[in-house]
Amino acid sequence: MIREMRQHLANWKANPRRAELPYIFSRLRELARNRRPELEPPLDPPVETSSVALLHDPAFLRSVAQVKDRTCLDAPRLANLWTLVRTVGPGKFLEVGSFRGGTALHLCNAIDCFHPGSPFYSFDPFEQAGFENLTDCDHVFKAADFTNTRYEEVRALLAGKPNAQVMQGFFPAAAAGLELDQIAFCHLDVDIYAATRDSLNFLSTRLAPRSAVMLDDLDHCETPGVRMAVEEFLAGHPGFLLFPVFPCQGILISKALW
Ligand SMILES: C[S@@+](CC[C@H](N)C(=O)[O-])C[C@H]1O[C@@H](n2cnc3c(N)ncnc32)[C@H](O)[C@@H]1O
Repeated sequence: MIREMRQHLANWKANPRRAELPYIFSRLRELARNRRPELEPPLDPPVETSSVALLHDPAFLRSVAQVKDRTCLDAPRLANLWTLVRTVGPGKFLEVGSFRGGTALHLCNAIDCFHPGSPFYSFDPFEQAGFENLTDCDHVFKAADFTNTRYEEVRALLAGKPNAQVMQGFFPAAAAGLELDQIAFCHLDVDIYAATRDSLNFLSTRLAPRSAVMLDDLDHCETPGVRMAVEEFLAGHPGFLLFPVFPCQGILISKALW
């Protein structure tokens, strides 16, 4: 019980939404119900961090230290993003769902290492709104969640990245007027069903050779809409493959492009 409480406290502290009432209530509700204690077991056996090459890469470590208070992602998910940016071919880089800019900056840092000079676009409504089109499966969210951020602040955060553009608004509508073809990589982190569905449909016809979409929150207990949208997309697009990645991400690629 004490170990579980400690784990809850650590999760809360690590989340940049920790000061938002809806997030605090959702953690408290979970604690009170003790709903699914089996979902927060200690990692046992633990990750042997001393022998993981990426954890000895100073550029990766610097980037994680720089973004850790501005991102909802944990270190394994930041590592998966870094590795996938390294793996894809040339083209444009996108993030849909940037919130306080943590993963956007992390992606720019990875682009500097592996694809210097490549264009990067970050999309989010920032302080204007959280979500556009919530459905029944998105029940943990409210339209005004994730508004505890500012467009200007994220622009300032990325000011040192001359190839980065921060776009305020809901994707894909916010991409109107941009020439978004030859997309090498997209980090799709929008949490809900409709935004995931619409983004995948938009991206699918604009991908470059050796491209990938990294989905966040795939098989996350609070975001079943992501899995629903991906299943629907795969059913309509048999040329695509999904590789789930621990702890709760998924890599989507087109077979024709690899
Ligand atoms: C979990 S947060 C992103 C966290 C961020 N990637 C990080 O960890 O640094 C999800 C974000 O997606 C945004 N969002 C939701 N629907 C969107 C859409 N259609 N287009 C762009 N952003 C969207 C929300 O407003 C919210 O800021």
